[in-house]
Amino acid sequence: QQTLYFSRHGESEFNVVGKIGGDAPLSPRGRLYSQCLAKHIHALKIPSLQVWTSTLQRTRATSANIQAPQQHLHELDEIFSGDCEGFTYEDLQEHFPKELALRDKEKLKYRYPRGESYIDVTQRLTPVLTQLECETNVLTVSHQAVLRCILGYFLETPPDEIPYVHVPLHTIIKITLQGFNYNMETVKMPI
Ligand code: G3H
Repeated sequence: QQTLYFSRHGESEFNVVGKIGGDAPLSPRGRLYSQCLAKHIHALKIPSLQVWTSTLQRTRATSANIQAPQQHLHELDEIFSGDCEGFTYEDLQEHFPKELALRDKEKLKYRYPRGESYIDVTQRLTPVLTQLECETNVLTVSHQAVLRCILGYFLETPPDEIPYVHVPLHTIIKITLQGFNYNMETVKMPI
């Protein structure tokens, strides 16, 4: 039996204003989540816990209060939206309506101009997925698009549905895997 934990970063200053991409710091609410997450995880007394985060400051700050060995992996960085980084969806609708329409049509395959698609993200995640397959008691702190791909992989979500999987903020996701069976539990932090 294998147990894996996942969380998005706490709310960032970009989340507050609805901007995508970038490397924004946590908002005050996001910082509160980082404290709640550490408290919750410590209370579980997970043996040999490891924490893997992306290299972006919002995931590193989210896990900073957790007492466990930490690795910061580029593979776990958020989908790179290229020329669209730092825009809100409303800005994109105004400046790049054709791009948004293309994305709506085929979200899995759609690649941002000079950026990535969900398929690109899944491909660059391969080494991490292979490693996670043989680990237990790892907490992965990453981003919505990346967690959609990772959860989709373990939960065998049909590929076209992966870009739409709901991964809420401030929620700890626990997956237990045993042979071909899996169980998923979520705990929403009250913030
Ligand atoms: O900031 C990007 C989001 O995490 C991914 O959301 O692929 O649904 O636009 P989206």
